[in-house]
Amino acid sequence: GITRKLSTGINGKLNGVEAKTPFLIGVSGGTASGKSTVCQRIMEKLGQVDKDHKERQVVCISQDSFYRDLTPSEKIKAEKGQFNFDHPDAFDNDLILQTLQDILAGKKCEIPVYDYKTNSIIPNQTTTIYPADVVLFEGILVFYFSNIRDLFHMKLFVDTNSDTRLERRVPRDVKERGRDLDYVLNQYLNFVKPAFEEFCLPTKKFADVIIPRGADNTVAIDLIVHHIWDILHIKNGGIAYQQHPYFEHRRASTSS
Ligand code: ADP
Ligand code: C5P
Ligand code: MG
Repeated sequence: GITRKLSTGINGKLNGVEAKTPFLIGVSGGTASGKSTVCQRIMEKLGQVDKDHKERQVVCISQDSFYRDLTPSEKIKAEKGQFNFDHPDAFDNDLILQTLQDILAGKKCEIPVYDYKTNSIIPNQTTTIYPADVVLFEGILVFYFSNIRDLFHMKLFVDTNSDTRLERRVPRDVKERGRDLDYVLNQYLNFVKPAFEEFCLPTKKFADVIIPRGADNTVAIDLIVHHIWDILHIKNGGIAYQQHPYFEHRRASTSS
């Protein structure tokens, strides 16, 4: 069953240590499209949520954990809603790349903890990401830079219409991210919407699977869950793995 973890990776050994190469899934889509919720549903359906972090075969990481620290003048702008958090440069993209490469090498990693209320990284605190069989990486711009995009074995795009997204973002940011209505609406019109159109939407073409309506789309979520389930069985000693599309993909990407 999938409760067993294997230490043998499909890429053999890493520095003499058996490496696990996880199946890496990128999940993108506009703000409040339901990326985080879709990933949460996938984790629930695969029985991962109640598991100790060390025991999880599937883990989910958010691009939001990689917002970079702001300079003092940028901080002041952010407090007034005048900083563009939807621009690719708002993230520590080197750290994203390094972290995903470490994950693919089967290494344990530490990722920052981000606080939306203060627009900053919480000092002296990290989240440990333990090696897993499947890793979901979700965020508005995870397909923007080609060096990051090319690391994913599967790319999903959560496609929820803009009106619905705005309708969901407003109460979420007020309740969960400590913002007031004016701040949220101004930020949305000045930065979030234009940046979505300029940077996020054009990356939809890179997606392998588009999920219309986000978390409401239980059929799409079930299809993805089944696919992950197959991968977990295969990675844990299942049958006929040579023929599985995952290995086809790995052969193609490692032979070039
Ligand atoms: P994202 O991570 O893409 O920004 P979230 O998953 O945080 O989106 O969803 C945005 C907000 O909308 C959250 O408050 C979430 O609880 C809510 N939400 C997400 N999907 C649905 C849905 N299908 N129906 C109703 N509310 C939803
Ligand atoms: O979960 P979601 O995809 O909505 O997270 C990304 C959004 O978070 C971006 O649209 C950005 O505007 C917002 N954000 C923010 N304040 C921060 C960091 C991100 O409003 N300090
Ligand atoms: Mg989110």
